[in-house]
Amino acid sequence: MIQLKEIDKYIESRFQRIFLLKGIHLEIKEGEFLTLMGPSGAGKSTLLNILGLLDEEYEGDYFFGEKNIRSMKERERSSLHKSEFGYIFQAYHLIDELTVYENIETPLLYRKVSSSERKSIIAELLDRFNMVAKKDLFPAQLSGGQQQLVGIARAIAGRPRVLLADEPTGNLHSAQAKEIMEVFQELHREGTTIIQATHARENADYGSRLINLLDGKIESDEKI
Ligand SMILES: Nc1ncnc2c1ncn2[C@@H]1O[C@H](COP(=O)(O)OP(=O)(O)OP(=O)(O)O)[C@@H](O)[C@H]1O
Ligand SMILES: [Mg+2]
Repeated sequence: MIQLKEIDKYIESRFQRIFLLKGIHLEIKEGEFLTLMGPSGAGKSTLLNILGLLDEEYEGDYFFGEKNIRSMKERERSSLHKSEFGYIFQAYHLIDELTVYENIETPLLYRKVSSSERKSIIAELLDRFNMVAKKDLFPAQLSGGQQQLVGIARAIAGRPRVLLADEPTGNLHSAQAKEIMEVFQELHREGTTIIQATHARENADYGSRLINLLDGKIESDEKI
């Protein structure tokens, strides 16, 4: 489903070229649940941003299905991003001016889901994450963990084919983290492709494959 070929990402500093990713070769099959681990600065978020079509400044090729991302027009890329990907950010990226309810609704609007269906999907997610009472609040009125839950609800609301999650449980206590991993496990069973970056080894055990990144390179790649 996804193929990265010799991906390099670097920044030019005054004296040298600094590689954030170097020679990344990666094939991800539809339905895989893959975990990226590695120390801070290893390149996990950088790689997720490329996978999620949020960063186009890199060398090498990215194939999504048969399509080379580089040969797509900006509009095509953006519509691919909206229709196929759900993205959970390390820093939640909620829309400050929208309520909890409206934040979760955004991907459903892109996907032209009917109003009654939107209501039922959002009600179910709010219930699942114990956020019913918070639905009319704005992100600034929530704790960090609650904002993270809204970010997760938003990312999965539209039933994306590929779910990208950057430290999805970073600000949650262990019971909530377990709950989220169980949601991921359920989505995985239903066929969603999941790629998560995490520092928590126990989160990797919910998945089917573990990749360790170090200094922008793949150190190991194993089935679990
Ligand atoms: N726009 C940028 N300009 C310069 N350096 C950057 C930029 N973005 C990321 N980096 C550097 O790239 C490296 C990889 O960063 P990245 O955020 O991908 O790491 P990470 O593995 O996600 O780390 P963490 O576990 O802390 O989230 C870091 O050394 C970071 O400082
Ligand atoms: Mg990161």
